[in-house]
Amino acid sequence: MRLVLLGPPGAGKGTQAAKLTECFGIVQISTGDIFRWNIKNETELGVKVKEFLAEGKLVPDELTIDLVWDRLDKDDCGEGYLLDGFPRTIKQAEALSDGLKERDQELNAVINFNVPEEVLIRRLAGRRVCPECGASYHVDTHPPKVAGVCDRCGTALIQRDDDKESVVRGRLEVYRSSTAPLIDYYRERGLLVDVDGTKPVDEVTEDIRKAID
Ligand code: AP5
Repeated sequence: MRLVLLGPPGAGKGTQAAKLTECFGIVQISTGDIFRWNIKNETELGVKVKEFLAEGKLVPDELTIDLVWDRLDKDDCGEGYLLDGFPRTIKQAEALSDGLKERDQELNAVINFNVPEEVLIRRLAGRRVCPECGASYHVDTHPPKVAGVCDRCGTALIQRDDDKESVVRGRLEVYRSSTAPLIDYYRERGLLVDVDGTKPVDEVTEDIRKAID
């Protein structure tokens, strides 16, 4: 099974990816997580992409596409994968489609999360993440047991730099101009599945499961 999760920042892609990987037994490939890991570990790629993430801009397609295919060709993607945050431009979608054809594979569905902007802004403003294990929380809707501390590993939670309000507005603009055109792109190819991302987390998971079944 090969799925794409498509949606604006804060739509719930990462939250659902974590649950869907369990349901379907496939791996989650998050380009944002890959970039953040490289930044944290100060790799050559991390140095190249750091400014793009800090400013909420897209990493250039040339850097992103090769990185994703390197990852998708690893053994653990043999049963399929769930792409979280890729593709994000028409050029990335075309590169994905070409690569799949070369490998005699195809996508099963593209899940499109619909969430109004005012909800996205509230979600991102309240999101806190664990810099150690990657767990994600929300100060109001999904707080940790002890304020500011990760339930899983006890590390102090942080706010992502790109969740600051000034950067969030820029990310939403980038989504509108570069990523939203993928909705029609995939609808025309009969792959798009719309979900209401404003429902509670478990209901969204259930809607996606039903649609995929
Ligand atoms: P990335 O890490 O992919 O960020 P994003 O797409 O902006 O998505 P987010 O992680 O912000 O949101 P999400 O939809 O996963 O929401 P979440 O589940 O956390 O990318 C970061 C950067 O990397 C980009 O800006 C770019 O620079 C670069 N990049 C990445 N991929 C790239 C690519 N392909 N090309 C070029 N550059 C790329 O949920 C958010 C909050 O809401 C959480 O607090 C959560 O608890 C809460 N929440 C979730 N679902 C619900 C619900 N149903 N009800 C209530 N609260 C909910």
